[in-house]
Amino acid sequence: MTTVDLTKVPVRKLYTGEEIPCIGMGTFGSDRFTAEQVSAAVAGAIRAGYRMFDCAACYENEDMIGDVFKAAFDEGVVERKDMFIMTKVWNDMHRKVREALEKSLSDLKLKYVDMYFIHWPFPNYHAPGCDVDSRNPDSRPFSVEEFLDTYRQCEELVDEGKIRYIGISNMTIPKLEAVLPKMRIKPAACEMELHPCFQQQELFDYLAARDIQPVGFMPIGSPTRPERDMMPEDIADIQTPEMQAIAKAHGVHPAVISLKWAVQRGQIPIPFSIHENEYVSNLQCTTEDPLTEEEMASIATLERNNRLVKGQVFLWEGANDWHDLWDEDGKIVDCTDC
Ligand SMILES: NC(=O)c1ccc[n+]([C@@H]2O[C@H](COP(=O)([O-])OP(=O)(O)OC[C@H]3O[C@@H](n4cnc5c(N)ncnc54)[C@H](OP(=O)(O)O)[C@@H]3O)[C@@H](O)[C@H]2O)c1
Repeated sequence: MTTVDLTKVPVRKLYTGEEIPCIGMGTFGSDRFTAEQVSAAVAGAIRAGYRMFDCAACYENEDMIGDVFKAAFDEGVVERKDMFIMTKVWNDMHRKVREALEKSLSDLKLKYVDMYFIHWPFPNYHAPGCDVDSRNPDSRPFSVEEFLDTYRQCEELVDEGKIRYIGISNMTIPKLEAVLPKMRIKPAACEMELHPCFQQQELFDYLAARDIQPVGFMPIGSPTRPERDMMPEDIADIQTPEMQAIAKAHGVHPAVISLKWAVQRGQIPIPFSIHENEYVSNLQCTTEDPLTEEEMASIATLERNNRLVKGQVFLWEGANDWHDLWDEDGKIVDCTDC
């Protein structure tokens, strides 16, 4: 297996000054890849040089990934302190964050996680894999106090040393405006959808100005996402002529170009692949042959507001459609206590 020279992988600085890798590996099997396949890829990726992994309770594979982490530590492949392991509390556990974290720690065979994300900013539950048109009658719009209650549980777990940093995910600027001033411990990162045709420039700049690190999910445009998340209007980022042309000029797959762009722009991409050649080249590409300024500028023009994770399953009764989840008019839609 190719091992990437770790000293050449760029780093990002969190607001504390701590340096973390500029790229991680995703672990969502997308209903297409089994926990065995994903955990085998994690094992290979650690050996290749990945030091950051993006896990989640709702990916239903933490137990097997935990076995891989344990084996890597026991065999001395890597030390725990050199890894940056992230996971997330799922929506049905917002009132029981301690229990959720303990389960993830036990599955991942860890004493602490480096980053604990609140996966979605509301407790609206849907069963993993459910149809996009299904609605849960208990779902409700965003509440500042409900969110802060979940966040405060995370803060307590930071005090206890079980979480090193708190992260937020799938947030909007209006929601951040409402909650950031009320937090005791600042969030270190925001996980958000980011790929060439969905750049979220305004939110990206908002986070950068506050020293909150953007972590970009679906960095390749998630060509293997579940079919239920595919809409006829979705654009395939890596098939655009611009991405194809830049890929040709560098002699690589356009997926790799989307990762180079992400790293050079400043977000931390967390690409997923079970294929060794792919996950190795995804890490390797951060160490060599950067994109030119012209290529970066060309990719900047690809913004198409092409949101792939629309989140319909989290809608509440009375909501219009998925746009209501994203506060597009600059106000939290139907906020219960703003
Ligand atoms: N916070 C959230 O709400 C949230 C939401 C979604 C995802 N995520 C996280 O983000 C991670 C990444 O998102 P994702 O897995 O949906 O999408 P992605 O990383 O954009 O795309 C993954 C797919 O791209 C292809 N690929 C990867 N590297 C490649 C390469 N070098 N050359 C060619 N093709 C390549 C693979 O398809 P093939 O197998 O066909 O080669 C792979 O299945 C997830 O695993 C998860 O950890 C978080």
